[in-house]
Amino acid sequence: MTQRPRRIGISTGGGDCPGLNAVIQAAYQCASQSHGIEVLGIEDGLEGLMDLDYKSPHGNRWLNAELVAGIRSRGGTILGTSNKSHPFRYAVRDADGTRREVDLSARVRENFDKLGLEGLLMVGGDGSMEIAARLTRELGIPVVGVPKTIDNDLLATDYTFGFDTAVNIATEAIDRIHTTAASHDRVMLVEVMGRHAGFIALHAGIAGDADMILLPELPYDLEKVVARIEARRRSGCMYTLVVVSEGARPAGGEVATLGEREAGKAVRLGGAAQRLESALVERIEQEVRTVVLGHIQRGGAPTARDRVLATRYGVAAMELVAARQWGRMVALRGTEIVDVPLDEAVGRSKQVDLDGQLISQARCAGIDFAQADT
Ligand code: F6P
Repeated sequence: MTQRPRRIGISTGGGDCPGLNAVIQAAYQCASQSHGIEVLGIEDGLEGLMDLDYKSPHGNRWLNAELVAGIRSRGGTILGTSNKSHPFRYAVRDADGTRREVDLSARVRENFDKLGLEGLLMVGGDGSMEIAARLTRELGIPVVGVPKTIDNDLLATDYTFGFDTAVNIATEAIDRIHTTAASHDRVMLVEVMGRHAGFIALHAGIAGDADMILLPELPYDLEKVVARIEARRRSGCMYTLVVVSEGARPAGGEVATLGEREAGKAVRLGGAAQRLESALVERIEQEVRTVVLGHIQRGGAPTARDRVLATRYGVAAMELVAARQWGRMVALRGTEIVDVPLDEAVGRSKQVDLDGQLISQARCAGIDFAQADT
């Protein structure tokens, strides 16, 4: 009797990020060419596993060479993604319109068995890795994780793919804003993503020659922001460019959010730069303008560096699957791809190291963080 080939499912969860398709392509090629493993693409995070009749343009599909051809350079994900397909806390809407969270994890186990899957390769950020660890621990579903996020805030890896692309996009935008800021002698505030980690702000701010960078890790002092703007004017620099991380906050203030947390989702951050603009216009004569880069940072083609990292992750993850080394996540340490227990990757996010070289070197290079005295 011929044996059925091994089968696994692959999903991309959480916010999309440039490089997801490169992981999918590399994992598929490695699975089919080196190991004879079949790969089912699960649609929109885990939606396609919670409901086998779930319909979306992506569709649960067995991957083949044609589907993955030429996708390494493409942004987004051919599988679709979702930041609300949490099987343990799935948001449903009652007849009266109220939303509540329900546990659909048993359905995931049932459908996983129906599809004849041996395991899952889950590509995602901290939220997806937490789900991956729980699927393994509580439902006995074997999972290998691949870390992604433009925020680069996963502790277990030096870098996630998507980060380099976001930094490059933000840097290019900052370069452009310099010239318009200079023409109008304005203060320009550029808000970048990153949630509670300031990596995008720090890297794009240095690369883009920002005058000030406001990080979530260093609550700022408004008077110091004003003082720097005025000092620049006195020295003949008539404009100022400030990079504001979306998680930045004034000392004693809260992180700026867009409404309450919705059931099944994380609270949305936003408004940090606008809040600063409102405070500044009360204090300075100069015009102030805010630019929010938003999802532009997540769109479009990945940089070469992200394509390479994502490809390496895809291959390394599939090698773990082939060797049945479940419950692990691939990670970058220095220049090597390693793997770590999934549990190690969960619940511990990374922030900018305030005692690290990058902060002190940025200061020496003339960048101000307007850090509040503690
Ligand atoms: O985690 C990635 C990220 O882009 C954050 O930087 C940002 O705060 C968030 O996702 C935006 O999420 P959404 O796409 O749900 O608005």
